[in-house]
Amino acid sequence: QESEFSPAVVIGTGYGAAVTALRLGAAGIPTVMLEMGQLWNTPAADGKIFPSMLSPDKRAMWFKKRTEAPLASFLWLDLANRNIDPYAGVLDRVHFGDMSVYVGRGVGGGSLVNGAMAVVPKRSYFEQILPAVDADEMYGTYFPRANAGLGVNHIDPDWFESCDSYQFARVSRKHAHNAGLATTFVPSVYDFDYMRREEANEVPRSALASEVIYGNNHGKRSLDKSYLAAALGTGNVTIRTLHEVRDIIRQQDGTWVLTVRQSDPDGNVLAVKQLGAKYLFLGAGSLGSTELLVRARDTGKLPELSDEVGQGWGTNGNVMLGRANHLWDTTGALESGMPALGIDAWNDPQNPVFAEIAPVPAGIETWASLYLAITRNPERGYFTYDAASDSARLQWEISQGQPSIDAAKNLFDKINAANGTIYRYDLFGDTRAFENRFTYHPLGGLVLGRATDLYGRVKGYRNLYVTDGSLIPGSTGVNPFVTITALAERNIERILAEDLR
Ligand code: FDA
Repeated sequence: QESEFSPAVVIGTGYGAAVTALRLGAAGIPTVMLEMGQLWNTPAADGKIFPSMLSPDKRAMWFKKRTEAPLASFLWLDLANRNIDPYAGVLDRVHFGDMSVYVGRGVGGGSLVNGAMAVVPKRSYFEQILPAVDADEMYGTYFPRANAGLGVNHIDPDWFESCDSYQFARVSRKHAHNAGLATTFVPSVYDFDYMRREEANEVPRSALASEVIYGNNHGKRSLDKSYLAAALGTGNVTIRTLHEVRDIIRQQDGTWVLTVRQSDPDGNVLAVKQLGAKYLFLGAGSLGSTELLVRARDTGKLPELSDEVGQGWGTNGNVMLGRANHLWDTTGALESGMPALGIDAWNDPQNPVFAEIAPVPAGIETWASLYLAITRNPERGYFTYDAASDSARLQWEISQGQPSIDAAKNLFDKINAANGTIYRYDLFGDTRAFENRFTYHPLGGLVLGRATDLYGRVKGYRNLYVTDGSLIPGSTGVNPFVTITALAERNIERILAEDLR
């Protein structure tokens, strides 16, 4: 056992954590970040840091014996998944009964595995979900600050119209327009100029080589290349990898002591350490941060935590579906792994849907159009503590996903009717058309203004803060990382000014 102390500790290295560490470091505060995953910067024997979706290996997943891709099958054949050795890989799928949650593991959190879609929510909806947050400030200051810090860029519309990589998106757009629906380009943190050069064969391919969900070897501005690089550049921030925080204890003098388990990439525990901190920031994501506080409350270590800890969790209304295209309506074999277009039906008063036009980067013509629909699902889950496994369990029933399916079906029935097409029934391992047994967008568990105050200060304790997706009450109406980043920018500015001066 070692014991050491740092003025500030940030748990995790995802969006909220990265913003917080940069601002702490820039303010001159020595800060240690603790990340349970690996730093992904070293090529393996194949010369690559990350494997592609088409030939995944142990680097793909967090301690699994077989990969668990979201599209389980194609024509009911299990083509996508492979047996692998358990290892500290980059993508985790955490199972809770009827719901499983995809999360990134490694320095950069979800930014390593996600689709890079950088979408600012509709202001009217943001005002509904977080009414106590000043929307003028968010839209005037913090969303622009987040976009700048993340390095968000926009696709060249002329290239989009002429390239091969987005023929799949143009086909889906045509089908949406035939049904009278609107589509919109989505900004991205994938460098579209790099992608253009990939298609022109000027640079090594990444988005155009079926790389997404298990990491991108090129082109993507993940957090390790944006916020975290800047944080390290302050000279005040250090990152410890393969360090998992297990327990949080409060000392008599109000400082924090963390129990941290250090492992090797094969999962062997190397050491169990104690690390002290004056200011503690939870940025371990909706699952990670919520689990730490549910465990701390229900094992009696932090008994003053409120009943709101563990409440208000949602899937961002995620539901995935595919449509069968006519034989003459081809998408081509080359599909960019990064979405660039969405169907925007969020203004539908009954069934608001924002559907990302998702690729099927299989390297062959699939005659399929895939979508990840984001819907306004009012259902919420919650976490309980399971002493036997010393973990937090998500309580979510399969029936709670039905409002998402209903909203998506309402929209895509219209698209099918207008185009004479049907759903695909072969993609999700059985014959279902709508898959909502997983989410990419876990949100909530430590909701702003409920488990915390309006700036993420945890109720019941001083110098304890939440800074990630667990602050957002289950829904943002769009892909969430820009919202998480902007909210973290807002909160840390206030906390630096008021608590750490
Ligand atoms: P995030 O989950 O990013 O980071 C938490 C970090 O903490 C992880 O690195 C984890 O390993 C670490 N950690 C957890 N517990 C710990 C512990 N006890 N000790 C130490 N470390 C711990 N969003 C979007 O806006 N656009 C998109 O295109 C997509 N696409 C997408 C695709 C896929 C496949 C996934 C899985 C997700 C997306 N998302 C997305 C969602 C987006 O990635 C997600 O909302 C954010 O990463 C969440 O950011 P957070 O800061 O909340 O934590």
